[in-house]
Amino acid sequence: MNHWDQFLGPYKQAVEELKIKLRGMRSQFDLDSAHSPIEFVTGRVKPIASILDKANQKGIPLDRLETEIQDIAGLRMMCQFVDDIKIVVELLRNRNDFEIVEERDYISHKKVSGYRSYHVVIQYPVQTIHGEKKILAEIQIRTLAMNFWATIEHSLNYKYKGQIPDEIRIRLQRAAEAAFRLDEEMSQIRGEIQDAQVFFTFKKELQQESRKLPRHSG
Ligand code: GTP
Ligand code: MG
Repeated sequence: MNHWDQFLGPYKQAVEELKIKLRGMRSQFDLDSAHSPIEFVTGRVKPIASILDKANQKGIPLDRLETEIQDIAGLRMMCQFVDDIKIVVELLRNRNDFEIVEERDYISHKKVSGYRSYHVVIQYPVQTIHGEKKILAEIQIRTLAMNFWATIEHSLNYKYKGQIPDEIRIRLQRAAEAAFRLDEEMSQIRGEIQDAQVFFTFKKELQQESRKLPRHSG
């Protein structure tokens, strides 16, 4: 086994475990037929090439990757509404299977690029055959609109190798404004949306119940 496999092993394990745990939070809301503040959860281990790029850009020596790069293990939690983000962060703060070491609020303070998200960096204990190992993981909590914008902006950044032309950069900033307004608009009609969701859940339950009723025969 090479050094990278050794190094990334605990990160892979952490991402798999955290995906299950964070998705479990969503399922619990579904069981309660309550509006879930979590729409979906994704996770990934940073590819080796990206780890090396970042270390290179930031002048991080390879023996300090563990402490200096916080997002080798990365999780994302997508929410329908901006208000859901606070609820998710509070749920994370109340867990006792990891420690929060840092929070970064790019929602109240958006980045110049237009990027918005709430970041929570945690220290997560992984159980290994050599004992417990604490690793850093970054959880990004954002709405679907914030995620849409960030995903497109990220691929453009990749395409232009971080040198997005000014004209496109400005259009992206405008698109970020549009995403922000979409989030606001959705929050305003939230009441309506939730009523509709409760209605459909109720209708589905009714249909399931009626299937259980004995059929008339003859
Ligand atoms: P990084 O070197 O990117 O980790 O910057 P940082 O250590 O200052 O942390 P920051 O909170 O700024 O960024 C952490 C992560 O947030 C990044 O790896 C991206 O996933 C995401 N992110 C931050 N800024 C942007 C942005 O402008 N656009 C997009 N698409 N993602 C961003
Ligand atoms: Mg970072």
